[in-house]
Amino acid sequence: MTEINHDYTKLKSSYLFSTIAGRVKVYEESHPEADIIRLGIGDVTRPLTPTIIKAMHKAVDEMADGATFRGYAPDLGYEFLRNAIAQNDYRDRGMDISDDEIFVSDGAKSDSGNIQEIFGRDNTVAVCDPVYPVYVDTNVMAGRAGEYDDATGCWSNIVYMPCLKENGFVPLLPSGLSSGNAFKAPDIIYLCFPNNPTGAVLDKAKLQKFVDFANAHGSVIIYDAAYEGYIREEGIPHSIYECEGARSCAIELRSFSKNAGFTGVRLGFSVIPKELKREGVSLHSLWARRHGTKYNGAPYIVQRAGEAVYSSEGKKEIKGLIDYYMDNAAYILNGLKKAGYNVSGGVNAPYIWLETPKGLSSWDFFDLLLDKARVVGTPGVGFGPHGEGYLRLTAFGDKKRTEQAVDRIASI
Ligand SMILES: Cc1ncc(COP(=O)(O)O)c(C=O)c1O
Repeated sequence: MTEINHDYTKLKSSYLFSTIAGRVKVYEESHPEADIIRLGIGDVTRPLTPTIIKAMHKAVDEMADGATFRGYAPDLGYEFLRNAIAQNDYRDRGMDISDDEIFVSDGAKSDSGNIQEIFGRDNTVAVCDPVYPVYVDTNVMAGRAGEYDDATGCWSNIVYMPCLKENGFVPLLPSGLSSGNAFKAPDIIYLCFPNNPTGAVLDKAKLQKFVDFANAHGSVIIYDAAYEGYIREEGIPHSIYECEGARSCAIELRSFSKNAGFTGVRLGFSVIPKELKREGVSLHSLWARRHGTKYNGAPYIVQRAGEAVYSSEGKKEIKGLIDYYMDNAAYILNGLKKAGYNVSGGVNAPYIWLETPKGLSSWDFFDLLLDKARVVGTPGVGFGPHGEGYLRLTAFGDKKRTEQAVDRIASI
């Protein structure tokens, strides 16, 4: 008889956002008149900008003409897009990344979930806690996480880097798994900055410490910079390759979802420098092999849309989109601060991390907000045990509705 992948059965059965949707549905059924404002899911709401739409229309027309029609895209991405990315996101900012170190994909969720495939099953993984759940769940699926402990909410083979209020929600360097007295550094370290869910950022000196640690121990950092476009303050690195030595220890992931509104269009990329090797093998070549075998390239129309993001008009429009969301973030942050809440994030990220009042649990506060303010947030504990006692609010909503939500929370 066919054996299933038993690692899948270890996954926690209910995905956070389905649990939230279920609770909201039950509430709506018993309160049909309730005007609920959703500040929970991290999806964008503003439409694609005119320059992007124009580029997509042009590409659609090309597909209708035998002379310009395109079939399969190159597995690693069209040269026009790889060049626009490497030039604008890296070389123009003083980083040495070549076009062929860019791998175009359908987004950072796929890349952050798939990248673990090029590493051995016995590697130890370190994650921030709280964390974007994809890093943990895909390592559970791959059999790398060990056993789940219901009491602690932790996996036995995963090293957790708690992101606490005392440290500004920034992780300390990872410890090893306890195996006698010997320190064994984690082999794969996932970092995501600006952070989902806390909205925290790492300054360059702190990120440099992770890079130095990885180089000293032979670890690889997977740096998810999906929210890079939201960085507003000086001194916050836009890329891990701003740090010295990152080319020999780091893979970077990026997305067009949150800066350009591509959550429904689907486009992202990963960067693997050619000199990044482990056991003498280039990770670039392994990832290229993986892409070539399992992925047939992002659609031409979408890649042309991605190219338009880097045009001068595109850049202006994207800035407008981000400004819109960041105005929401400022309103949430300031409004809730004024109302006496402890809030952080929201300055270089579209997420606000709200400490629950009076020591309420994340889910109790979720229910309270839903009932008293009719606002939906995301319980922090859903992102890991150290998210307990927090709630995540997003700035991706409509401006008026966001303001209404904050005013309602403030008046509870
Ligand atoms: C940290 C992080 N990485 C990746 C993603 C997914 O990005 P994409 O839409 O490119 O798949 C998200 C989406 O919420 C995210 O929060």
